[in-house]
Amino acid sequence: MSEEKNDVLEKIVSLCKRRGFVYPSSEIYGGFGAVYDFGPYGVELARNIREAWWTAMVRDHENIVGLDSAIFMHPKVWEASGHVSGFSDPLAECRKCHTRVRVDHLLEEAGVFADEKMTETEINALFSENKEKIVCPKCGQKDFTEAKAFNLLVQSNLGNFTGDWTKEPTYLRGETCQGIYVNFKNVLDSSRVKVPFGIAQIGKAFRNEITARQFIFRKREFEQMEMQYFVHPKQAEAVYEEWRVKRFQYYLDLGIKKEHLHWHQHENLVFYVKVAWDIEYKFPFGFKELEGIHNRSDYDLSQHSKFSGVDLSYRDPQTNEKYIPWIVETSVGLDRTFLAVMTEAYTEEVVGEDTRIVLKFPKKLAPVQVAIFPLMKNKPELVEKARKIFTMLKKNFRVEFDDNGNVGKRYRRQDEIGTPYCVTVDFDTIGQGEDKTIEGTVTVRDRDTMEQTRVKIEELEKYFL
Ligand code: GAP
Repeated sequence: MSEEKNDVLEKIVSLCKRRGFVYPSSEIYGGFGAVYDFGPYGVELARNIREAWWTAMVRDHENIVGLDSAIFMHPKVWEASGHVSGFSDPLAECRKCHTRVRVDHLLEEAGVFADEKMTETEINALFSENKEKIVCPKCGQKDFTEAKAFNLLVQSNLGNFTGDWTKEPTYLRGETCQGIYVNFKNVLDSSRVKVPFGIAQIGKAFRNEITARQFIFRKREFEQMEMQYFVHPKQAEAVYEEWRVKRFQYYLDLGIKKEHLHWHQHENLVFYVKVAWDIEYKFPFGFKELEGIHNRSDYDLSQHSKFSGVDLSYRDPQTNEKYIPWIVETSVGLDRTFLAVMTEAYTEEVVGEDTRIVLKFPKKLAPVQVAIFPLMKNKPELVEKARKIFTMLKKNFRVEFDDNGNVGKRYRRQDEIGTPYCVTVDFDTIGQGEDKTIEGTVTVRDRDTMEQTRVKIEELEKYFL
């Protein structure tokens, strides 16, 4: 990772804290590894990202419906899914300082690519072949134990009031899609969907990630936005390609530059995944997975049929053919999208003697869309007029009233939270300025061009729409 790239991540982390986007969890207790909280502007940005995803996936598709399944599920779900036996990362220990490290990450830093889906034996073979290149990030030694698979499921004692709950744990879900599979029949029986159709869900997922790094890129508690599309086996390949095209376009529509997106195809696949492509984004630490698009075959519904004893096959009402639908999955993290949107928006511009930091969010994602300023906070006529504009605009836009400090300072603050427009009510607005011809107008300042235009108050809504 070059210093320059590190630098950008550090600047984003610092801005996120300073302006109330992201805080480390439980910070007054020293933080809590790989867990983060969204602050006042972060929570708004996250909501807007969720909304954009929901619109693109559910509202824009007649045959995709939503779901909100519980975080806790019957423990057998995770046996059926393969997570209890096989959801793990390769962990090794430095023999000198006993630091535990993720072997695939160390290999990656040494320029050797270890696919997430490799077995323990395959990882160990790669690890031994490349030991000379791999150093402990803490003490710099090259002596490690063998890599062991470390299960990532997070356990809890929910519902267990006696005995040793660690022997029969309930899990916090490791991915949201399992809630979709176990509700496949419910949705089919209670709504008017017919294959092909999709079920979409946004919700928290939990993983005991070994290495906490790269800010909110890899969290232990995070949010997924997943869609499972159920198709006839013969349609799976073509439908998969359609979703690849749609999902790539979605990021362009979110304002991400084409040259900052990459396709990466997984070569070593778990047996039930037929094809897996990632959309990678150019994060400050390099191109990394943003979204996974998977052809999961009939594995999930077959496994849940087998473990639950409930037949999850589908009978085509027209042909009467009975089959287990195949699943095309699109899966992206909200937090990763958040970091991608932040990275894309983060801009430093030299203005005169100063450097201006500005988040150039697309207008639909900006936490605040219009900020309204009275020129001075101790002039009741200015404040009253600005308040009226605030009340008028809040019906259609996310607005903020800001009367703190001089207008220059307020512009800088709004630039740093990515507000596309600032409206200033001054003495001309209220007919007490020198130019009486512009009474009833306000200054609208554009975030990106910094240009200022006079707009009539009654035309403001139309102007912003
Ligand atoms: N249901 C498929 C699935 O969960 P995955 O590749 O493990 O596949 C899908 O995860 C997406 O979820 C990733 O592309 C990423 O955006 C997000 N994600 C996974 N682990 C994450 C973590 N620890 N922190 C933040 N986001 C994560």
